[in-house]
Amino acid sequence: MGVDKVKVEDKQVGQVALGEVFISVHGVSKIYSLRGEDVYALDNVDLTIYRGEYLSIMGPSGSGKSTLFNVIGALDHPTKGYAEIGPLRLTELSSRQLAYVRCNYIGYIFQSYNLIPSLTALKNVSLSHILMGATPEDSDDAAARSLKSVGLGHRLDHRPDELSGGQQQRVAIARALVNEPSIILADEPTGNLDLDTGEEIIRILKRLSVEEGVTVVTATHDHKMLKQSDRVINIRDGQVESIQRSDELKIEEGTIEIGGKAVH
Ligand SMILES: Nc1ncnc2c1ncn2[C@@H]1O[C@H](COP(=O)(O)OP(=O)(O)OP(=O)(O)O)[C@@H](O)[C@H]1O
Ligand SMILES: [Mg+2]
Repeated sequence: MGVDKVKVEDKQVGQVALGEVFISVHGVSKIYSLRGEDVYALDNVDLTIYRGEYLSIMGPSGSGKSTLFNVIGALDHPTKGYAEIGPLRLTELSSRQLAYVRCNYIGYIFQSYNLIPSLTALKNVSLSHILMGATPEDSDDAAARSLKSVGLGHRLDHRPDELSGGQQQRVAIARALVNEPSIILADEPTGNLDLDTGEEIIRILKRLSVEEGVTVVTATHDHKMLKQSDRVINIRDGQVESIQRSDELKIEEGTIEIGGKAVH
């Protein structure tokens, strides 16, 4: 089944009831060979993510969060196993089809922003829309709307070095939203934001998931974000340690209890 078919289905399906499996990970291992030793960044991970769900991934540094993001986000192939988005098995797509999936279906928010330093906020965001095939004028309009939605309507002409860290992160978020993706993958999206801006971003992600059926997957330690999630996955040493509904988690300031253990 080709990529275009998914696009058609996506439009027809519209507001699908939660419970439809959208992303699935099957027996995925990512093994690096380092000086003759195998390093398991992911070790036989199985995971099901539902359409429209808001999923948080927790785990200590080096536990495999970014590696899992890269596999789900069609940025890296696993050593064993495979991931699927809808009916598409990512390991079976050509590099051209993978590029189409990345551009049209997934909005990425990286911890390190990855903005282009020489471009204004507006052009950083509109470039993503141009790559999807829109005209420069339409792309600028879409970029301005997206930047306004994250509270940056007054900073369209600023380059990244003329913005604060939190504002740069919001440009990165506007860029992730501009193509109206079905999936948002966010690595610590509120890590560099002040409280108010962080809460605003959480509200935006939550609204997209509830009202527009966008599937949001985020790596986070932010308790406010964990509370808003539908489910929280804890990974350790490349393995899924627990999966819980967020209303089953005991979240207190500074501490969260997972599987009966306090995690700071
Ligand atoms: N290119 C590589 N070669 C060898 N080992 C690697 C490579 N990339 C990642 N790893 C190892 O894989 C494991 C998982 O890395 P990953 O970046 O997914 O962790 P993470 O959970 O995202 O950590 P953090 O919270 O610090 O971002 C780590 O132990 C890391 O050292
Ligand atoms: Mg990481």
